[in-house]
Amino acid sequence: MHKYTIEEICEKFGIIGDSMEMREVLHVVRQVAPSDITVLITGESGVGKEVIAKAIHALSNRSDKPMISVNCGAIPEGIIESELFGHEKGSFTSASEQRKGYFELADNGTIFLDEIGELPQQTQVKFLRVLENGEFMRVGSGTPKRVDVRIIAATNKDIEEEVRAKQFRADLYYRLRSVNILIPPLRERRDDILPLVKKFSDEFVRTSKMGFGGFSPNAIDAFIEYDWPGNIRELRNVVESLIVLEPGREIQAEDVRRFLSKMHRPGVHRDFERNQYLPVHLNKSSEQAERELIYRALLEMRKDILELKDFLMNRHREPQRVHLLPPSMYADRDRDVENEIIEELPSIEEMEKSLINEALRRSGGRRREAAKVLQISERTLYRKIKEYGL
Ligand SMILES: Nc1ncnc2c1ncn2[C@@H]1O[C@H](COP(=O)(O)OP(=O)(O)OP(=O)(O)O)[C@@H](O)[C@H]1O
Ligand SMILES: [Mg+2]
Repeated sequence: MHKYTIEEICEKFGIIGDSMEMREVLHVVRQVAPSDITVLITGESGVGKEVIAKAIHALSNRSDKPMISVNCGAIPEGIIESELFGHEKGSFTSASEQRKGYFELADNGTIFLDEIGELPQQTQVKFLRVLENGEFMRVGSGTPKRVDVRIIAATNKDIEEEVRAKQFRADLYYRLRSVNILIPPLRERRDDILPLVKKFSDEFVRTSKMGFGGFSPNAIDAFIEYDWPGNIRELRNVVESLIVLEPGREIQAEDVRRFLSKMHRPGVHRDFERNQYLPVHLNKSSEQAERELIYRALLEMRKDILELKDFLMNRHREPQRVHLLPPSMYADRDRDVENEIIEELPSIEEMEKSLINEALRRSGGRRREAAKVLQISERTLYRKIKEYGL
């Protein structure tokens, strides 16, 4: 059992854990952190699996060693073994140098294998061997290597279902789930919603220096009633987006509802509703990069809205369509009434798409340059291009 109390853990890692359900999760975290036991963390997208994995590592005796995070779903099947286990020079055509895999990089520390359900069958066998005796072989080598690595795995898939469907090896599953931490979805621990809203609005106002008029009690009720399919990640995005869209004004329940219904209108799918494949995390958050992109888009949009309001107030004539986005994106929206222009704002996804298109156009289709302009990794850009079919 770790010396920190649950309250101290929450404080130290900025974890909100007011609900009984989260307290139970944190109780298990306290118990397992100091040992080297393998932990499987399960739960829907955005519930905080990575947050809990980081807390376990930070509370372990390995906290001064690295925690390497790997998203198994984001690595192409053909190179996953060389990424995890490394390879010898010349082991395959493009292997011009010898390379250490993530297991070696995590030696003496922790490896966090996210989306473990995405591991190809063949790799599952090799992974089981590492779990059992800490041994593996680099691709192209016949000599076993040993590492001392604490393994934390996570998945948002129903892994038992995968086992039944023979997609995931039963022996590996049993070995992995010696400790299984199930993080309940936010709708099953509504006591956490209010403190989360408070935390995210405080943080955002502090870092963005945006004006903020608070949430009305009804707005808070709207937050508490909503089911949050994207869990905490969705809640955070909604809080921050509302602050950007309604700066300085007290946010009302209808603002919250309108924003949520817009996000869920047919045909618009948000990232967190899909089984998404985030790029490989190597101790760096791609979420951060994506969020920055979204903020910039929102801030741009806010500027446009202010200009638009200005325009409408100062000129007493029929409002004209002001193009926030390329005209093609307005195909199905040609109502032009003052208020509706603001109500019919494009979704974040549409804005993201349009920003990426614009960056690609300006860079003449060169992805590296476009990624630089957008301040996201090439990998994220590549994934977005594929996702949006650009
Ligand atoms: N208990 C919590 N308290 C405060 N913030 C949290 C908590 N849980 C998660 N978060 C925040 O919510 C966001 C999503 O968390 P995280 O990335 O850990 O989720 P996840 O379960 O790994 O999601 P995915 O399945 O999509 O990978 C992050 O910004 C994280 O900081
Ligand atoms: Mg995660």
